[in-house]
Amino acid sequence: MSWVNRALKSPIGAKVMMAVTGIMLTGFLIGHLAGNLLIFAGPEAINSYAEGLRKFPALLWLARGGLLGAFIAHLAFAAQVTLANRAARPEPYAFNNTVQATWASRHMVLTGCVMLAFIVFHLAHFTWRVTDPQISAMGEFDVYQMALRGFRQPPVAMAYLLAMAAIGLHLSHGIASLFQTLGLNHPRYNRGVRFIGPVVGVGIALLFASIPLSIYLGYVN
Ligand code: HEM
Repeated sequence: MSWVNRALKSPIGAKVMMAVTGIMLTGFLIGHLAGNLLIFAGPEAINSYAEGLRKFPALLWLARGGLLGAFIAHLAFAAQVTLANRAARPEPYAFNNTVQATWASRHMVLTGCVMLAFIVFHLAHFTWRVTDPQISAMGEFDVYQMALRGFRQPPVAMAYLLAMAAIGLHLSHGIASLFQTLGLNHPRYNRGVRFIGPVVGVGIALLFASIPLSIYLGYVN
């Protein structure tokens, strides 16, 4: 399998793997978002959805394993591509007047690190339930009450909104560039493709952000 090794070590192989794992992670995010939006349908809707996920532990752990694998691979290939880019150009450009490069594209490492920190906090908050003694003391797994209690606290709501901004920026550029990496761009519809990243990325971030924001502002009780 030395050709697989060689392909993965090549810059384009690493970019393809980043694109593929990025699609898997975005797929998870869209599914997670759809489930979480049930919070607007009331406590029963979201709690029975969360309970449903736990009914098939083997399937849940399989999905978790796949998600963790895709996540670790995405980080590893991102590190490989970033280090290869830096090695190719150790000195920054004397005149940085790149017209095409957006703020999001130049700060993928920063927004990626904010997302990583967010995920650790998020797991501690909702999955391990160790950030708030009152949540830890809850007997049953009540997602609705956990969300209400968490997002009514200004620092928690603010942290989530900040993380959603980073997610919106990261996905905007990530989705746009995966079309290029996978050769899915064509001069005839390039203008449309350029909008897909920002529309999908910002759309996902705004829908996620609507949850802490509506709870913090008291629209969900
Ligand atoms: C306001 C937005 C969000 C809410 C209300 C929310 C809610 C939740 C809840 C309730 C769980 C626990 C599910 C369970 O253990 O059964 C969870 C798990 C998780 N969330 Fe979120 N989430 C949000 C945003 C995000 C975002 C943006 C990401 C990724 C960047 C994310 C990644 C995860 C992961 C990886 C898990 C662990 C999944 C598992 O243990 O199977 N979440 N989330």
